[in-house]
Amino acid sequence: MYVAGGAGDERTMRENIEAFARWRFLPRVLVDTSARDLSTTILGRRVTMPIGIAPFALQGLLDPDGEVATARAATAAGVFMGLSMGSNRTIEDVAEAATCPLWFQPYVTEDHALMRDLAARAEAAGYAALCVTVDSPVSGRRDGAMREPVELPEGVVWANMPADLQRPGRGKWLTGGDRYGWTDLDRLSAATSLPLVVKGILAPADAILAVEHGARAIVVSNHGGRQLDDSIATLDALPAIVAAVAGQAEVLMDGGIRRGIDVLKALALGAHAVLIGRAAAWGLAAAGQAGVERVLEMLRIELSVAMAIAGVTDVERVDPGLLVAHEVISTSA
Ligand SMILES: Cc1cc2nc3c(=O)[nH]c(=O)nc-3n(C[C@H](O)[C@H](O)[C@H](O)COP(=O)(O)O)c2cc1C
Repeated sequence: MYVAGGAGDERTMRENIEAFARWRFLPRVLVDTSARDLSTTILGRRVTMPIGIAPFALQGLLDPDGEVATARAATAAGVFMGLSMGSNRTIEDVAEAATCPLWFQPYVTEDHALMRDLAARAEAAGYAALCVTVDSPVSGRRDGAMREPVELPEGVVWANMPADLQRPGRGKWLTGGDRYGWTDLDRLSAATSLPLVVKGILAPADAILAVEHGARAIVVSNHGGRQLDDSIATLDALPAIVAAVAGQAEVLMDGGIRRGIDVLKALALGAHAVLIGRAAAWGLAAAGQAGVERVLEMLRIELSVAMAIAGVTDVERVDPGLLVAHEVISTSA
């Protein structure tokens, strides 16, 4: 329930997936794709494919090694990983287990000293970016989680928090706060030299503001449909944000990625890369590090096969003409 659920009637959670089916491929044939390249660069770091692991909290509920297992899997696969502020393993433990690019993900909260301290720890531990999630001033109304509140078993704690906040009960910090604005983001990013990623953008106007406030990358995200039900599906929000950002920052997206063809569609609509949340969580719950590795491998194979059949040689050069809207049933020259 912790992983599977979303906010309200879960329409946005479902729409994130359904939005992919509203696009169909127009594959190109007899293209030599034998040397097709899935690798790319994200914030200057080389990764084997345009897929990273989204920050998601409480991975210790899914596997005893929690975020350390996920980090090992990301390292084995050569992809980047976001570490949630609500993780059960410390910033340092995860850095020690991984050589892949790591992003630390805080929310903007009232305790600026804590924020600065977390950012400094991430920087000292060699993280590649600070990925601030801005879509959670309060937690969304998740009916499932309200019926069955998450309980942390003995030994599973919010490892990066001060001692008095390591167990539930005073969970104000777990999301951000509802009285913070762009200047609070400025204060946080001024305290670190890590590149700033802003996660949880849906409106093009906010994408422009994020760039103006120094974002080097933006993650188009509705938190996997866990925040505001009936928010726009992320794939639907993506093209207008890509247009608004106009190359001034890397635009990534998450939400509903379950297959390699989903990744290819997101790239064709202008995403630089995608992140996976639940897909990785299910892998972790099923088989720990090996499970996450398997999920990443399945996505890699599916993406590679889709590229071969669609005539795509390079994930950095996916022609928008590869897609037609599902409603369009004829094509023109
Ligand atoms: C169980 C769960 C916990 C999450 N926790 C966080 C979190 O701590 N911080 C954050 O920025 N996003 C969090 N997210 C959102 C993910 O980063 C990501 O945006 C979302 O899962 C993408 O959608 P998908 O699950 O369909 O791939 C969480 C998502 C899930 C499913």
